[in-house]
Amino acid sequence: MSNEKLRIAIQKSGRLNEDSLQILKDAGISIDNGKEQLKASARNFPLEVLYLRNGDIPQYLRDGVVDVAILGENVLVEKGDDIIKGEKLGFSKCRVSLAVPKSMKYNGIMDLDGKKIATSYPNTVNAFLTEKGISAELHIINGSVEIAPSIGLADAICDIVSSGSTLFKNNLKEVEVMLKSEAVLAISPLISSERKLILEKLQFRLNSVLNART
Ligand code: PRP
Ligand code: MG
Repeated sequence: MSNEKLRIAIQKSGRLNEDSLQILKDAGISIDNGKEQLKASARNFPLEVLYLRNGDIPQYLRDGVVDVAILGENVLVEKGDDIIKGEKLGFSKCRVSLAVPKSMKYNGIMDLDGKKIATSYPNTVNAFLTEKGISAELHIINGSVEIAPSIGLADAICDIVSSGSTLFKNNLKEVEVMLKSEAVLAISPLISSERKLILEKLQFRLNSVLNART
């Protein structure tokens, strides 16, 4: 038997981590604990797990350092054009939306023309605005984006909306949904044919879990 293992990247910490490990568990794959270790192996399936930062995962897939990942579609849209999108996994559902202060009168996307928008998703916003024929000044920040309007950094924001509570707490309202997203299997374009066979077994198991969940 071959010693070949499939290398999967899972979000190290954050909203995807728990559900990603759960779906593998439901697929009968048990992984030795220890996120602190950053690398773990499955006991009963040829799988090696790497715990990585969300935003780094597309590059690892692109370079073929990891074969497959569980990732939000939103991350693929932002920086994973060349990554193969596999099964939708049904969890971590969210939207990538534009939001403005509650007090702002918003009549449509043209109201953002020439305005400042704070976001962690510049490519997604740019594509959306270009399609609408709008130009805005983007401020790229990596977290706590919703604070930007109240401190005078931006007129609007673009970020992930899940429950909507972060928008609500920061006196913002969602005005445009640019993208709907959920966790997906993301596959490296450089995966070897040997590992692809292991991936197919993993996909078969994941599909059984998904069918049982619906
Ligand atoms: C994420 C995201 C939004 C929020 C959306 O932030 O950037 O701010 O969750 O979720 P909600 O609609 O349920 O409130 P996170 O808390 O992960 O922190 P960060 O922005 O600092 O990374
Ligand atoms: Mg946030």
